[in-house]
Amino acid sequence: MKKLTTFALLMVSFFAAAQQETIDQKVNALLKKMTIEEKIGQLNQYTGDNSATGPITINPNKQAEIKAGLIGSMLNVVGTKYTRQYQELAMQSRLKIPLLFGQDVIHGYKTTFPIPLAEAASWDLQAIELAARVAATEASASGIHWTFAPMVDIGRDPRWGRVMEGAGEDTYLGSKIAYARVKGFQGNKLGDLNSVMACVKHFAAYGAATGGRDYNSVDMSERMLFETYLPPFKAALDAGAATFMNSFNDINGIPATGNVHLQRDILKGKWNFQGFVVSDWGSIGEMVAHGYSKDLKAAALSAITAGSDMDMESNAYRYNLAELVKEGKVSIDLIDDAVKRILRKKYELGLFENPYKYSDDKRAEKALNNPENRKAALEVAEKSIVLLKNENQTLPLSKSLKTIAFIGPMVKEYKANMGFWSVELPDVDYDKWVVSQWDGLQNKVGKNTKLLYAKGCEVDGDNKDGFAEAVATAKQADVVILSIGERRDMSGEAKSRSDLHLPGVQEDLVKAIQATGKPVVVLVNAGRPLIFNWTADNIPAIVYTWWLGTEAGNAIANVLSGDYNPSGKLPMTFPREVGQVPIYYNHFSTGRPAPNENSTGYVSSYIDLKNSPKFPFGYGLSYTKFNYSDLKLSSAKIKSNETIKVSFQLSNVGKVAGEEVVQLYLQDKFGSVVRPVLELKDFQKVKLNAGESKTIEFTIDKEKLSLYNDKIEWVAEPGDFEVMIGASSADIKLKANFELVQ
Ligand code: BGC
Repeated sequence: MKKLTTFALLMVSFFAAAQQETIDQKVNALLKKMTIEEKIGQLNQYTGDNSATGPITINPNKQAEIKAGLIGSMLNVVGTKYTRQYQELAMQSRLKIPLLFGQDVIHGYKTTFPIPLAEAASWDLQAIELAARVAATEASASGIHWTFAPMVDIGRDPRWGRVMEGAGEDTYLGSKIAYARVKGFQGNKLGDLNSVMACVKHFAAYGAATGGRDYNSVDMSERMLFETYLPPFKAALDAGAATFMNSFNDINGIPATGNVHLQRDILKGKWNFQGFVVSDWGSIGEMVAHGYSKDLKAAALSAITAGSDMDMESNAYRYNLAELVKEGKVSIDLIDDAVKRILRKKYELGLFENPYKYSDDKRAEKALNNPENRKAALEVAEKSIVLLKNENQTLPLSKSLKTIAFIGPMVKEYKANMGFWSVELPDVDYDKWVVSQWDGLQNKVGKNTKLLYAKGCEVDGDNKDGFAEAVATAKQADVVILSIGERRDMSGEAKSRSDLHLPGVQEDLVKAIQATGKPVVVLVNAGRPLIFNWTADNIPAIVYTWWLGTEAGNAIANVLSGDYNPSGKLPMTFPREVGQVPIYYNHFSTGRPAPNENSTGYVSSYIDLKNSPKFPFGYGLSYTKFNYSDLKLSSAKIKSNETIKVSFQLSNVGKVAGEEVVQLYLQDKFGSVVRPVLELKDFQKVKLNAGESKTIEFTIDKEKLSLYNDKIEWVAEPGDFEVMIGASSADIKLKANFELVQ
């Protein structure tokens, strides 16, 4: 049997290699027929008329240029009708090279899933892969070939608005999620009808923008880059990612778009990436504003030399590359390499056989927002919710409640639940398609429970006129649910904030409602960790709902009612105050660590604030309780070619079934370079019925013990390690030591 499988695998890879060969042959044959203008056309990407995320090139000749073979790809052209229309233009070009349609399908296409940061809070890789799979199925039926996702930037600074688009602060979790998302988008293989190309972005270190201000500079050691910021990109590449996008920031003084070290040495060199790199929106042209390139022509030269294959919306390649070739500054081989990388993907997608393959009305009608996809969106949304606090068993809500007051600016919102980066589809009635929080709860509670509503206030501004009505409404109820947070457009691209507190007068509304003496549950809707200290200290139950997508209302209602037992854990540290930012759990130890969180004096601490976060990385509650016991290590010593088995007992000691994310952290006690106080190295999401126990096992191998030394070599250094099993990074339940020997 095993032999047969090996034989089958060999045959599959043989045929794949053979197919690749024929694709390469086809690409080479086509390349021979192409003029220099047509070649450069393939490297040129323009936006269509759908929503844009940057300054749009005003080009009234786009359609004529497509017909002339001067444009290789479009973004922001969505739907079967429009993609088909544009493709028909490309089919009128001399060589009939099909267009590639790219789109930001970040967390769903029509069926919208939770924002990526929320999905990361599920720690459920299958669920995350499923979300990407559904998005790909819908997008690929609607004419989209290529999604500009996953965004795999490590985000340690919640001021940065784009943390909502990634997987949070941790390299290990981020790498696992990056892998799952690429697999989800691309499915079994490119060319399948339900597969879209992934685009891993933003290469690289975009998340480390100084001060959390979008597009800002990054200054970072090579070791930090390799150890913390690059692994999710590598994981995405290992999953087979077809394309990469570079980033807006400069890194150590060189814009990423013109960065030879990043794109040539690391990505296309050391990592042997065979796909193509697209610039970020206008990022080639922006090298002029960076003060790195004297003009657009110099920017084109830097970008193509550095390995940026496709120019998104800069018009830099279109008008300068031919001249640069003529002047001998850019070799034709460089152009050919970029063109080949792009054509290869067009062949792999099957576009030369049928350029309209993915613009399929019938398939789109069946796929978009169908019940199965909505079911998946509901499941993922439930799993993404994090229960931050639940005193006096305020949640789940008792089934015998007569009156619930549902108060706050988010309660009756529809589109808001979609979060930033939901695809703007034309002609959409959001209220017919998104389940609002009000509708979700209304559908959930029985006939005997009355639901009352008051808005209370807006998300921002200082108007408290609605408070009196909100308080009067609260007084009539047995329990109050308050839905507050930041607006959907307060996080995302170009949405950095210097203040992370709840905007406007929302926390005053919380105080006014709490003063009624009614039990209060607060729902926080946001695209980043927010600061809400008064609420956190005074309100008995707090649920972090992020932005949950089309099924938001139902998912929230299921958690409030106890039909779903919350299982999410925070993928980012929540600060007490902005002054702690950047704050992340896996920081290095200093030479003067604070002995406890109230220590002051000549130790590494603040004189006006604790070091600890408000809510730590990996934290989240459940309606049940879990007990950790009986830690065992298969050995107290390992050699670098051996492994250690770590096992322990996990028991559900509460009254309901639930899921726990058990987290394995390691600390390398001493290294040739300083080490983090702890680092996530594995996790499992485990489901247990009430009263059930299970033995959980992890394996520690050399890979988990390795670090980048000061020569940027990935090595496991002999010495002492501590293994910690935790319910969060700050709630270590079990620990033991072992030694790595030579
Ligand atoms: C963003 C990218 C996005 C692109 C296309 C840019 O502004 O940084 O992440 O894919 O626009 O919309």
